Amino acid sequence: MKRNTAEVVVIGAGAIGCSIARELAATGRDVIVVERDSPGRRATWAAAGMLSPLGEARDGGPFLDLADASLRRFAGFADALQHETGIDVEYRTSGRLHVSLGDADDELAAIAAGQAAERFDVSFIGGIEARRLEPVLSDRVTTALLVRRDHRVNNRLLAQALLASATAAGANFRTGSPVASILVKDGTATGVRLLSGEQIEAKHVVVAAGAWSGRLEGLPRHLPIEPVKGQMFAVDARDRSHAGPARHGVEHVVFSRECYIIPRDDGRLLVGATVEDVGFRKGPTPRGIAGLMSAAAAVMPFIQDLPLVETWAGFRPATPDRLPIIGPDPLLPGLLYATGHFRNGILLAPITAACIESIIGDSEPPVDISAFGVARFGG
Ligand code: GLY
Repeated sequence: MKRNTAEVVVIGAGAIGCSIARELAATGRDVIVVERDSPGRRATWAAAGMLSPLGEARDGGPFLDLADASLRRFAGFADALQHETGIDVEYRTSGRLHVSLGDADDELAAIAAGQAAERFDVSFIGGIEARRLEPVLSDRVTTALLVRRDHRVNNRLLAQALLASATAAGANFRTGSPVASILVKDGTATGVRLLSGEQIEAKHVVVAAGAWSGRLEGLPRHLPIEPVKGQMFAVDARDRSHAGPARHGVEHVVFSRECYIIPRDDGRLLVGATVEDVGFRKGPTPRGIAGLMSAAAAVMPFIQDLPLVETWAGFRPATPDRLPIIGPDPLLPGLLYATGHFRNGILLAPITAACIESIIGDSEPPVDISAFGVARFGG
């Protein structure tokens, strides 16, 4: 039966929205999640699943603290999801190799000498050592940064597990239900109106609509979130001469200046990603995929001859400073944001959910989120 009232309505059933719904439902709160498409089918599905705080912030600051706090939660998050749903989200802690083809040796050496290096267990190594760790790397690799505290997860399995867990905890999902506007009464957010005209009333409204967040009607301000497109492709690196689990031998996430390569347990290697400011122009393009193919071939030549099994694209939700927006809107009581996670929505899902749960429960968030308030963009 369709319900039209809840304590909390969450707009968006991506990794962020589902994590929030799961956390709130687990503490006994009544939650409805409204999703324009199918759960986890937008940026969450298109993502790579890297859990790399240092990939995006090198010299400390509030983002690194937030990302580190979320990374610390991931092992428990993955275990709990497996326990709750039976789904193994393939959380792996094998680390990241950021390789240089002679083009970034100084830059990588500087990161290894920087203040965050100890925190993420970083070493600067030579090409021979890099090839010892990953024998399929090109002979052209001159040096590499080995980041041991850098993890990964299968984002598509994570989406399935979060949906199953949140549903089992009692969250109610309304899919194929785009939101037309936020409902406001007497200066307070009171719910949402769907495009169908139906209204859902709630005490708290959480905007977790990713790249679409800024398009919602009824927000008390211009929310500066724009889509930044990312294209990816996957090859099947299974050794077909062996039955059983897939083997490509790659364990680390491999970064170069032009691409990243992520191993999956099923034997695929994922290669990403373009960073394109083209609005919501969807789908992969020959130019985007060709650029990634040549970047991947420079790092791991054997990729060129593997079966191409998938190409796809998604939209990262980007704010002007590329930092997320987490917390209440001071202009409209009842309205909260959990959006704008740009390249880090999967990594930041556990900590974002914990922060939103604390705010709704009137307690102190587990990390300082003052740097992520919406007011930093003005009224
Ligand atoms: N998090 C990887 C990307 O956005 O490309």
